[in-house]
Amino acid sequence: MTLPTPIILDCDPGHDDAMAILLAAANPAVELLGITTVSGNGSLEKVTYNALRMCAVANIVVPIAKGANDPLAGKASAAPTIHGATALDGAELPEPTFEISQLSAVELIAKLVSECDRKVTLIPTGPLTNIAMFLQAHPELHDRIEHISFMGGSTERGNWTPYAEFNIWADPEAADIVMRSGLPLIMSGLNITHQALATPEILDRISALDTKLARTVVDLLQFFATTYREVFGMPDPPVHDPVALAIVIDASVARLVSAPVAIELHGELTRGATAVDLYGTTGQAANVDVAMELDVEKFWNMMIDALKVLGKE
Ligand code: RIB
Ligand code: CA
Repeated sequence: MTLPTPIILDCDPGHDDAMAILLAAANPAVELLGITTVSGNGSLEKVTYNALRMCAVANIVVPIAKGANDPLAGKASAAPTIHGATALDGAELPEPTFEISQLSAVELIAKLVSECDRKVTLIPTGPLTNIAMFLQAHPELHDRIEHISFMGGSTERGNWTPYAEFNIWADPEAADIVMRSGLPLIMSGLNITHQALATPEILDRISALDTKLARTVVDLLQFFATTYREVFGMPDPPVHDPVALAIVIDASVARLVSAPVAIELHGELTRGATAVDLYGTTGQAANVDVAMELDVEKFWNMMIDALKVLGKE
């Protein structure tokens, strides 16, 4: 019998991070060891409160630890335009049902990885600050990491600047440390996450579950849709973050290509860009498995199955 893959979700909830929390808690192919938070879609306080509230929504109880408030270089920049003032606007959410860990994110990741009897997969879906700090503080634990499957970057254009995707833009130095770590990396960039659209048909399928959780998720995604229409002119919102986890759950959900990926740190107009060398023009060795195409039906079936499991009252 194959044991579930132990995972740690490092996130900045955020609507799509919230969906990743639900998928991580429900899918039997993974074992959610813990959640760590990083400022990004909102302040560290807001995203941590939101992680606790999403756990309360679905009766999830796992260790949650606060991580970095600021990037490795510079000051934090939240993204309130997309996720609202609370960083998770759009639905009535319950108050937290448990206290956060007294450990820092790095300490919790180190504890969970050290104590686990299997190699652990890290699933960062926000800026990579906590992951970079963990890798720098615990070189002795690198061989206990199975994969780092992150949502970030793009093989094409950016969404926060013309060339940088938000998670990488928010802490390029951290992303550079992760890309250079030599660990097995899987990148789910905008090029694939923009295929994971919460269309009206998807919202109808979620509504048809007819549970309180389903109604909460539809409310959240409908808010997310309004900001994506207003800011990006996209009719349906891309639910970015669960893609990075879906690939760990079932590798057949995406087509991956190995390629060299480097982070632009100095470009005046391009800082935070992911330089993905799909055609071998740099002569560099491949360091990342880059997700290119999504099996959209398989992805949404996985996501909706998770809501079905968690929604049983
Ligand atoms: O660019 C999209 C990413 O930035 C997602 O992870 C979203 O939650 C925000 O963090
Ligand atoms: Ca995120």
